[in-house]
Amino acid sequence: MNWDLLIQKAIEVRENAYAPYSKFKVGAALLTDDNSIITGCNVENVSYGLTTCAERNAVYKAMSNGIRQFKAIAIVTDTDTLTTPCGACRQVLAEFNHEMPVMLANLKGDRQLTSLKELIPYPFIESLQ
Ligand code: THU
Repeated sequence: MNWDLLIQKAIEVRENAYAPYSKFKVGAALLTDDNSIITGCNVENVSYGLTTCAERNAVYKAMSNGIRQFKAIAIVTDTDTLTTPCGACRQVLAEFNHEMPVMLANLKGDRQLTSLKELIPYPFIESLQ
């Protein structure tokens, strides 16, 4: 797993974050099963609740490109304490790969490897009987 590259792509896309309200920029980079990288940044709105997180934007961009298989994700913020994905993003990521490793990183070079299973051990799964 080339974490350096995935983190670098998350750092780069983070620059595109539209975060005039929170000033909190987030970058996410998804590694697909065919080893391409799909990135996303957070996009805020004056109607705050319409904001979409970086992680979900990456997933939705991939979906729009017809890509549904993911191997890993890197998430980058500029914080001393590494940022974990919000609950909504965890659920959305779990839809596609509950086993996915998750790399948390910041601009200082700190990093921590975790997994979606650790972050959301019991995602909602619809049981149609
Ligand atoms: N944000 C993300 O992009 N990902 C997360 O997992 C948590 C929060 C964004 C949403 C908002 O634009 C800003 O960070 C502050 O909450």
